[in-house]
Amino acid sequence: MNTRKLGNSGIDISPIAIGTREVGEKSKQQTIETLQYAIDSGINFINTADFYGMGMNELIIGEAIKNRREKAFISVKTGALRNYQGHFLGFDGRPNAIKNFCAYSLTRLGVNEIDLYQIARIDPNVPIEESVGAIKDLIQEGKVRCLGLSEVNADQIRRANAVHPVTAVEIEYSLATRFIEKEILPEVRKIGASLIPYSVLSYGLLTGNLSGPLPKEDYKNMFPRFQGENLQYNLKLVEKLQDIASQKGITAGDLALAWALHQGDDIIPIVGMSSTKRVDKNINLVESIQLTSEENKLLNETFGIGVFKGERYPDALLKVVAS
Ligand SMILES: NC(=O)c1ccc[n+]([C@@H]2O[C@H](COP(=O)([O-])OP(=O)(O)OC[C@H]3O[C@@H](n4cnc5c(N)ncnc54)[C@H](OP(=O)(O)O)[C@@H]3O)[C@@H](O)[C@H]2O)c1
Repeated sequence: MNTRKLGNSGIDISPIAIGTREVGEKSKQQTIETLQYAIDSGINFINTADFYGMGMNELIIGEAIKNRREKAFISVKTGALRNYQGHFLGFDGRPNAIKNFCAYSLTRLGVNEIDLYQIARIDPNVPIEESVGAIKDLIQEGKVRCLGLSEVNADQIRRANAVHPVTAVEIEYSLATRFIEKEILPEVRKIGASLIPYSVLSYGLLTGNLSGPLPKEDYKNMFPRFQGENLQYNLKLVEKLQDIASQKGITAGDLALAWALHQGDDIIPIVGMSSTKRVDKNINLVESIQLTSEENKLLNETFGIGVFKGERYPDALLKVVAS
């Protein structure tokens, strides 16, 4: 499989990362099988967070990489607080808290070093320089290889990078969510970091497999773009994506992922994949699907910034993500 460079680290990495937020929901055996299959097939970039499954996801990843540590590149997000039910409790970016979280993650993963350690959200009560300073210490102690950030604005990227070089910035980016192209992506490129987009399929919206209204129990109901008229409007837009995709003989989801991959070699999308079959399909896509400059232009013009209706997060959460 072709590789991409991870920021200025000199590390070669798979062009997509495997997301693990959902692993707690799948059977443990299937998750381990899928992760091992992905690593053996060349997808060596595993994305997790200490709060995914409240530590359970790290334990499962630890088991999956036991005999594959040298091949796997593990990225961990930290600093978000949740209770035993997984309910959001706030953030903790104090230096000692970050060092404490890191110690637990190392144990759960069963590794001596975390490859990419990322602040999940910036704690509004702690200067970013202090949180990043803690990761700089961990790098000097050999417990972390590279510094990363998640859901940060351009100014936060600049401030963090002044303390220690930022290797990667994880943030929502897709044909449906392109605000980062104004300031954040240029800043990521200026400092030579990689962009690690999540929700490149916009929570399934861009697959063309959704219809509205969503079932009452669906968590996506909390996102304004999945509500009422917004959803109806956005589903009509997705039909345009399906039309373009079918002319290429592929699915809308594949085209949305291909578009993200096509926006630069410094972009390494995270994709949730719950089976070996899905891993195979996405590897095939990464290796075979090309976009012509006309197709790229058409997609960029049809799905410009702000075309999809409704915010990406509810009001309360918008306050703690990048804009
Ligand atoms: N930094 C942050 O704040 C943040 C926030 C959210 C997520 N994340 C990270 O990003 C990862 C991905 O999360 P996400 O919300 O972005 O999920 P996603 O990758 O947009 O969606 C995952 C689902 O898409 C399906 N899928 C994968 N490839 C596909 C394709 N080519 N065509 C159609 N469907 C496809 C998979 O289905 P199958 O079940 O069939 O495999 C999977 O269930 C998470 O696991 C997490 O690691 C980070």
